[in-house]
Amino acid sequence: METEAADQRAEPADDVTLDDVVSLCKRRGFIFQSSEIYGGLGSTYDYGHYGVLLKNNVKDEWWRAMIGERDDIVALDSAILQHPRTWEASGHLEGFTDPLIDCRVCKMRFRADKLEDSSCGRKPSKRPGDTEACDLTDARQFNLMFETHMGAVRDDASAVYLRPETAQGIFVNFKNVLQFARRKPPFGIAQVGKSFRNEITPQNFIFRTREFEQMEMEFFVAPDEAERWFDYWLGERRRWYDELGIRPDHLRLRAHPTDELSHYSTATSDIEYLFPIGWSELEGIANRGDFDLRQHSEFSGEKLEYFDQQSGERYVPHVIEPAAGADRATLAFLVDAYDAEEVEGRQRTVLRLHPRLAPVKVAVLPLVSKEGMPERARALYEQLRRRLRAEYDEGGSIGKRYRRQDEIGTPWGVTVDGQTADDDTVTLRDRDSLEQVRVPIDGLADELVARLEAPWRSPKLEAG
Ligand code: GAP
Repeated sequence: METEAADQRAEPADDVTLDDVVSLCKRRGFIFQSSEIYGGLGSTYDYGHYGVLLKNNVKDEWWRAMIGERDDIVALDSAILQHPRTWEASGHLEGFTDPLIDCRVCKMRFRADKLEDSSCGRKPSKRPGDTEACDLTDARQFNLMFETHMGAVRDDASAVYLRPETAQGIFVNFKNVLQFARRKPPFGIAQVGKSFRNEITPQNFIFRTREFEQMEMEFFVAPDEAERWFDYWLGERRRWYDELGIRPDHLRLRAHPTDELSHYSTATSDIEYLFPIGWSELEGIANRGDFDLRQHSEFSGEKLEYFDQQSGERYVPHVIEPAAGADRATLAFLVDAYDAEEVEGRQRTVLRLHPRLAPVKVAVLPLVSKEGMPERARALYEQLRRRLRAEYDEGGSIGKRYRRQDEIGTPWGVTVDGQTADDDTVTLRDRDSLEQVRVPIDGLADELVARLEAPWRSPKLEAG
């Protein structure tokens, strides 16, 4: 389970700041503060059109890696509200806590283990407890789960929790999947969905929020094979980020020392990304042993084990868990892609996203809004959008429209001009090289699909 102590190991990131990314996200409608017209709600965010498309592409790529390109993992979508006993068995009710201190004067709350990094709510702002005017309570354990009540009666018996991780929905369905998906170890169950944590100090845009999406997979294996599969999944998950174009020198693996391991884990390694705030966890890969299945067996009375009819062997599978955050991965892809450069004396901001992640793959633009160009461009757009996500744009100067597409990361621009009517060709502009080539409309969709499927490397690597 993630801890804040693991975050933000200082080391200078490259010159992209979080503010650069936040303001681009707002300017281009990727991500907004939630409930903005009411002044915003603490650390929750809403995704606009391009943000939805980008995050969907991140999740699609995860699904592709989990079930599209292999046969040993099945999908699951379990409910957010689960039986409260789930959280007793998992240890969350008792142990999913942070130490919390309140100030009776300024009414602010602080993490007891983070007082040095906190500012008190009174001016001039100091560290909590630094002046005599502060009146701090003793530390108490604060459970990070959001509690609500099910049904008409609001009492302890009706308490239920918004899930703090998607993983437990997988463990409680182990028996169903074993039976109905007819799987046997080694096999995995994958799930993407919302999780909720009442973080005391959420921060850094969508890096740490109270409502977020996780992409988790629990891989069930024979006990004596757990170590081998742990190493295997470390490699696979690192490769996923590499293939989606994250610069290799901005990724690293970090093994948790024993005193940092969660109660369920015998080994955990994080894939860390060099965010503008420093090296921080992007994804955790844990060897959870048989902790979860044993706990749920004990609490539910159901046998959660595997019986191999051929060998006559019966065992509780061990679990290897790659646990990623969809929002946090989206932030890493945005940061890694963000670039600013001067082209012909003008500033250009560009998102150099892997084409498969880009919200829009191709923009179709008439050079000017006359001489039949909009009609021809629109017809071409309608043809291309059957094969890949396209956008038609005829408003404003062509330079302005290119810049807009650069900022949302569209890898290719197709411009219909005066010559198109004569010879059925268009110009194809590449976002990264800015190269423009004349190509026939016939075969253009095939060409773009081929480019989309080709391996890709961040041009920021060449730039040094
Ligand atoms: N089932 C194990 C588990 O939940 P975790 O390290 O607590 O492990 C997995 O969470 C991933 O979920 C993290 O690596 C991170 O990407 C994401 N995540 C966790 N808490 C988050 C938060 N408050 N906001 C955004 N993403 C979060």
